Amino acid sequence: MSERILLIGSGGREHALAKAIVSSSSCDKLWVAPGNPGIAREAELVSMNIADHDAVATFCHKNNVTLVVVGPEQPLAEGLADTLREEGIDVYGPSQRAAQLETSKGFSKDFMQRHGVPTAPYRRFNATEHDTARTYAAEHALPVVIKYDGLAAGKGVVVALTQAEAIEAVDAMYAGAFGDDGVVIEGFLSGQEASVFAVCDGTDFVTLAPAQDHKRIGDGDTGKNTGGMGAYAPAPIVTSDVLDKIHTQVVRPVLDGMASEGMPFIGCLFCGLMIDDHGDPSVVEFNVRFGDPETQAVMSVLSADVAALFASAARESLDTSTIASTAVGFACNVVLASAGYPDAFDKGLAITGIDDAEADPYVTVYHAGTKESNGTLVSNGGRVLGVTAVGDTLEQAVARSYQAVEKVSFANKFYRTDIAKRAL
Ligand code: AMP
Ligand code: GLY
Repeated sequence: MSERILLIGSGGREHALAKAIVSSSSCDKLWVAPGNPGIAREAELVSMNIADHDAVATFCHKNNVTLVVVGPEQPLAEGLADTLREEGIDVYGPSQRAAQLETSKGFSKDFMQRHGVPTAPYRRFNATEHDTARTYAAEHALPVVIKYDGLAAGKGVVVALTQAEAIEAVDAMYAGAFGDDGVVIEGFLSGQEASVFAVCDGTDFVTLAPAQDHKRIGDGDTGKNTGGMGAYAPAPIVTSDVLDKIHTQVVRPVLDGMASEGMPFIGCLFCGLMIDDHGDPSVVEFNVRFGDPETQAVMSVLSADVAALFASAARESLDTSTIASTAVGFACNVVLASAGYPDAFDKGLAITGIDDAEADPYVTVYHAGTKESNGTLVSNGGRVLGVTAVGDTLEQAVARSYQAVEKVSFANKFYRTDIAKRAL
């Protein structure tokens, strides 16, 4: 089938998805709402209010859209997929109920416990249980992990190394920094983190190349948590044995459990995992959409007709023959941020050198926070660009990425110099 696709989102992840979708032989036409200047090179941008679900549905009907792919979690949390399905439009992305795997840490932990999915031991405290949460945190073995129970843009987790930090974190969350959803307090998992994306059709799934993100702002995993400062794929820590365990112990029980509880999961199940010294996975968190910046690396090594893959998942008949290979070589993505991020940073900084960087055929510069201003490309966010390269080896992909990083300029350019170092 020739797909007419609307992709929702505007970051580096959506730039990578857009590029993969337009290079699919099943893609006839791609619109992206709202998109960004990099995505504008791949697809037609649509300016509409994506929070207005009826407007999105009207656009789809008017333009004979056959598939909607939702990038970020917010529209899923708000039920965009539900509205579109009621309107008879196929969507790659979960329902509002299924999105609870990401939107409520408490839901997700209770669900894992019901279905025997390995995860850290925990207790959940509601909005009125500030005092009990405080006492529990103070008495918990260290380190202890305090998580806000609702969406917090990746900032609602504190790994407390001292009792004082634990109490402070609980108090800050109950002070309403993110809302009034209560907290989850859980044990600390040690090991190496990995991100595994499962393309799911409600019943069946296929996993893509395992990736590793770099969440801290500074080299050597120091400093504040960010949305992600770089990624690479495939991550050697996830051997085929480890991936088998992830399939049988995590993805399979989640899909079966969600279906049996009446909220089948259609879309990308993002498994944020800790892999221990024995190669046993535990779930740190689920997200219900692709990861950013992991997707930029994962899509770079995927050889597939992703338009057909996502469409088949959306139509509850996953077709894995759309995938030629999930891992052709290796890819490395280095995020170029505006110094100051994740705290205050400048915007509107003129960007040059992208064409020069992309003169290397193995390099793609994904736009994350950019905009066009009077004909000049300028920064428009904390994470500005994602410089991605592919190679036959991880070493080669990393070397090419960092060579390209040098060619891109903007004032206050900041990046980590150790992406993928651990795997090398
Ligand atoms: P989350 O938003 O749940 O992914 O948490 C953000 C980060 O906090 C994760 O990527 C981990 O690095 C860390 N983290 C969260 N939960 C745990 C845990 N139980 N044990 C160790 N680290 C954790
Ligand atoms: N890279 C982590 C995330 O997308 O949540």
